[in-house]
Amino acid sequence: MNGTFPKDFIFGGASAAYQVEGATKEDGKGRVLWDDFLEKQGRFSPDPAADFYHHYDEDLALSQKYGVQALRLSIAWSRIFPDGDGAVEPRGVAYYHRVFAACKEHHVEPFVTLHHFDTPEKLHEEGDWLSQHMLDAFVDYAKFCFKEFPEVKYWITINEPTSMAVQQYTSGTFPPAETGRFDKTFQAEHNQLVAHARIVNAYKEMNLGGQIGIVHALQTVYPYSDSPADQHAAALQDALENRLYLDGSLAGVYAPETLALVQEIVDKNDEPMFKTTPEELAELKLAATQLDFVGVNNYFSKWLKAYAGASETHHNGTGAKGTSVSRLHGIGEEKLPEGIETTDWDWPIYPRGMHDILMRIQNDYPLTKAIYVTENGIGLKEELPAGATDDTVIPDPKRIDYLGKYLNAIADAIKDGANVKGYFIWSLQDQFSWTNGYSKRYGLFFVDFPTQKRYIKQSASWFKQVSDTHVIPD
Ligand code: NOJ
Repeated sequence: MNGTFPKDFIFGGASAAYQVEGATKEDGKGRVLWDDFLEKQGRFSPDPAADFYHHYDEDLALSQKYGVQALRLSIAWSRIFPDGDGAVEPRGVAYYHRVFAACKEHHVEPFVTLHHFDTPEKLHEEGDWLSQHMLDAFVDYAKFCFKEFPEVKYWITINEPTSMAVQQYTSGTFPPAETGRFDKTFQAEHNQLVAHARIVNAYKEMNLGGQIGIVHALQTVYPYSDSPADQHAAALQDALENRLYLDGSLAGVYAPETLALVQEIVDKNDEPMFKTTPEELAELKLAATQLDFVGVNNYFSKWLKAYAGASETHHNGTGAKGTSVSRLHGIGEEKLPEGIETTDWDWPIYPRGMHDILMRIQNDYPLTKAIYVTENGIGLKEELPAGATDDTVIPDPKRIDYLGKYLNAIADAIKDGANVKGYFIWSLQDQFSWTNGYSKRYGLFFVDFPTQKRYIKQSASWFKQVSDTHVIPD
């Protein structure tokens, strides 16, 4: 099948500051929660990453050449406010002006995320998303950016609020690495949604004429079988990973059924329910009516089975096969049905899940004005062939196959009525990965990290063809 896309559909690439920029100690940048965490682990360093700090022009030129019409990138909050709030670092501000000017020169539209997992260290130590001061500082930083960077027309408040909260307080793969704290997870999710809502409402009040959205990690959750117990396990997992914050950001109200599922999870863990105030709930409601778009990050799906055994601590928080966060909390366990292919990192490849999550947003959240797929792609183990020259093209047939299948699923969803306006491949170039360092490559462009030389992958030419023709080739 050769899926097709509307004429104005945007094909873009995605990145995040901490994963591409490198230069973590340059030009007065403040420390973030990861610096200490990674130093203590001693497994890998965020420097040099893809050294986008010095290679942005080259990457944007390549983007232009290979049909990448837009780039999702994030501002490192701690380059602008090294301590999270207080004094501004002008060199950080100047850097982003240079990046946006290069975007313009190369005809690449920037979609700019304000928070992509990189809370400034000082605010992290005060409680991160659990602290009200963090919320205030985040709103101030966002307003500063809106005024300072009028050249940006597409803003994203927060990247994957739930991944952040779950990995910080449930699975423990992100600092402060706490496990099994559902109360903190839900409170941090709610607090992020409140901060998001305040920023959306402030942006609309400033009347700057651009668009603003939020990006969610949405892995479709299915019951392993039709049994009521498996269906209930899937509903609980879905409430944790999808439903609570879809409700909060897209409907502006947590449905009673959603809250009942969340209550069941916290009860099972002898933990208190998260707290809200009437003012916060009013802010959520207003923001949902004003939101311009939602971003969907979808890579894989999950199948949940009821689990009667004892709690386990075997998990890695990424949702990968056999490494469930749910099992720990008596929700259920993940089990992969027969016949579903997986990636090198055991992530199930299931394009139908992309279609289903897009349709769910379209059908269940009628306030949603537009949807972008803001991340999708495949992590592979890839190497530079011996004797590579400047013209060497890295073969990545698995990526082309994966992208073709997922893009076809998106084209199907558009045919079925989903208002999807664009697709951003994760990632534009190979980057630093939070939990896998430099071994997991997602890029259209290969980065030889020691030399920082860029090489083209076969998928980049394939992507250009899709972007030029708006048709998925055979
Ligand atoms: C989600 C995150 O936004 C991004 O930072 C991460 O590297 C990718 N998924 C791949 O796991």
